[in-house]
Amino acid sequence: MPSILQSPLTATVAALALFVAAPAISEDSDILSYVDMFDPLPAMPPIPEGTTMSRERIDLGRMLFFEPRISASGVISCATCHNPALGWTDRIPRAVGHGGQVGERNTPTVLNSGWLEAQFWDGREPDLEGQALGPIQADIEMNLTLEEAVARLNEFEVYRNAFMAAFPDDPDPVNAPNVALSIAAFERTLNTPNSPFQRFLLGDRMAMDDQQVRGMRSFVDSGCVACHNGPILSDSQFHRFELPGSRDEGRYLVTGDERDRFAFRTPTLLNVAVTYPYFNNGSVDNLHDAVQLMGQQMLGQDFDDNELDDLVAFLHALTGEMPEVEIPALP
Ligand code: HEC
Ligand code: HEC
Repeated sequence: MPSILQSPLTATVAALALFVAAPAISEDSDILSYVDMFDPLPAMPPIPEGTTMSRERIDLGRMLFFEPRISASGVISCATCHNPALGWTDRIPRAVGHGGQVGERNTPTVLNSGWLEAQFWDGREPDLEGQALGPIQADIEMNLTLEEAVARLNEFEVYRNAFMAAFPDDPDPVNAPNVALSIAAFERTLNTPNSPFQRFLLGDRMAMDDQQVRGMRSFVDSGCVACHNGPILSDSQFHRFELPGSRDEGRYLVTGDERDRFAFRTPTLLNVAVTYPYFNNGSVDNLHDAVQLMGQQMLGQDFDDNELDDLVAFLHALTGEMPEVEIPALP
């Protein structure tokens, strides 16, 4: 703005700011204004009231997560689609479930999912407890009634004992709500600390290289952070996103509210480099195209190749340490 147009007030404020800030201006104070836009990942997500995270419960949840016999075919477990070796997802565009059926949507990772305030692309469940029983019953996923799932678990002494240890106050502990509580407790342990970005936020300014730092600035300056914020870079809110070639109406299928048509919950960006392909139908297989589409649809802007490279380099800095999970020996 030409200085002649500045009001005396603006000029005074500017002069004051210069006076106050000048001695302190350094790379760091500038970087701090970016760091302030983010929240580091705490060790554990919030634990809902009335839930406990006992060792016994987490261990039982881990068994159930890998247990294929709670599916009609006896071959599909949660880990079939949320595969620990594949970033706790499946790396195919749309999930393949019971009888080889292909679902409508891409499998999100369960890593850090304890922080999401709405589960599924359309947010139809509020929490992990509510989410856990869905896939067991879904005809295109595991296709089993909860009654049958519980009856199958009850056949094994190992499970009867494990449920008793995990729910010592429950006289008849092998039941569906306890299956959900156990799986959710296990999932809340699947967090990914110590990514270069996390270490950078916590003060190790060498943890990201120059390009990743440029990408972080661009992530803030261009407005990605408006939706991708908080400890896992998701606001858990719903935003309209029209994916070329998709007719999935998203949140509208849950609420019937016109404003929710084609709205989807913001996914986490932690570990996004290892959870390809992208978007609710998995139709985009690389981060460059995914970021360009986000820029165009969410921010009305086209990035040039350099900006894209920086943003993608930053997204690579979001890969943390994978949880070390022992594969359980099932009965
Ligand atoms: C056939 C593949 C398949 C199986 C088996 C499966 N899931 Fe999923 N999972 C998906 C898909 C696809 C979605 C997204 C569905 C949607 O949004 O409508 C999903 C979503 C989720 C989410 C929500 C994550 C988010 O970001 O919203 C969690 C948590 C989850 N699954 C846990 C489980 C658990 C626990 C089991 C076992 C009881 C399980 N899944 C079994 C494919 C699968
Ligand atoms: C208005 C909110 C909003 C803004 C701004 C936004 N995003 Fe997103 N982002 C979303 C939503 C919602 C999705 C899920 C879209 C879908 O698949 O239906 C998403 C998905 C993504 C994905 C795919 C993740 C996955 O696992 O499939 C990436 C990568 C991404 N965003 C990066 C960015 C970047 C980089 C920017 C800035 C250039 C940005 N986003 C700006 C809301 C937003």
